[in-house]
Amino acid sequence: MTGTRDISEILGLLDWYRSMGADAALEAEPINWLARGNQAPGAGYAWPNKPHDTEHDADTDRTASPVQTLQPAPQRDTSRPVAPPKLEPRPRPQTPLAASDAETDARRIARTADTLDALGAALAAFDGCTLKATATKLCFYRGAPSARLMLIGEAPGREEDLEGKPFVGRAGQLLDKMLKAIDLTEAGVHITNVVYWRPPGNRTPTPQEALACRPFLERQIELVKPEFIVALGGAAAKEVLGVSEGIMRLRGKWRDVQAGAISVPALATLHPAYLLRTPAAKQMAWLDMLAIKARLNG
Ligand code: URA
Repeated sequence: MTGTRDISEILGLLDWYRSMGADAALEAEPINWLARGNQAPGAGYAWPNKPHDTEHDADTDRTASPVQTLQPAPQRDTSRPVAPPKLEPRPRPQTPLAASDAETDARRIARTADTLDALGAALAAFDGCTLKATATKLCFYRGAPSARLMLIGEAPGREEDLEGKPFVGRAGQLLDKMLKAIDLTEAGVHITNVVYWRPPGNRTPTPQEALACRPFLERQIELVKPEFIVALGGAAAKEVLGVSEGIMRLRGKWRDVQAGAISVPALATLHPAYLLRTPAAKQMAWLDMLAIKARLNG
């Protein structure tokens, strides 16, 4: 660069940077600013890789310093030696490992449940899903223990968490209306979620949380023996159908879902909570409801 540009051009550029508020050039290595104590940035600070010989060296030898200040260097207080910062490695998150352990555990436990009640009891005793720690109640299912149609949502919300049943809040009320429109009631369907405990703040469950609950959901499908499954919303559709496309691409198409020993045709549709926010989308959901009715009557 110095070969092709005049030094005054470079200094002018640096000056421009400084006037724009960029007063330090950062290096690739992270800097522990807290370890600097009360020392001001610049030449007064002894950087770990190159202790300064003189104030002049520190200010001019910019390649040696992780941060190259464009400000005039403050006077160095040599009576107070500054300890070089220790950059501790960050602890790695353990979640994926823990989740796969939880899934193995869940699979072993869920397999032994021969009835829905036994599965519910096993879930109540299961500590492998971290959502349990922050939830109020387990939300297992609502509706019939055995049904031709099984509906699977994303996760319990606030009302569900308080009542211990899926889809009892505003979204659940709309779901009941949608079912009524195709001549179904709670007594004729089985309603559950991908995870059985409310995620804090109603956030989407993480893949690890869904994975820990997955063996229970598969066993639940085996025990309910539905003829058809409906996944409600994008998150449930991705988890139940094992795909990554968005709900607008997925909805309205039947695909087979494998749950343990059985395979069940499944359809994804829009989540009732989305329909409450976006009434114009009800038209699409209505087409899906008609497709479900046709399969049940067909
Ligand atoms: N939304 C869901 O996905 N499930 C419920 O149970 C309630 C709201």
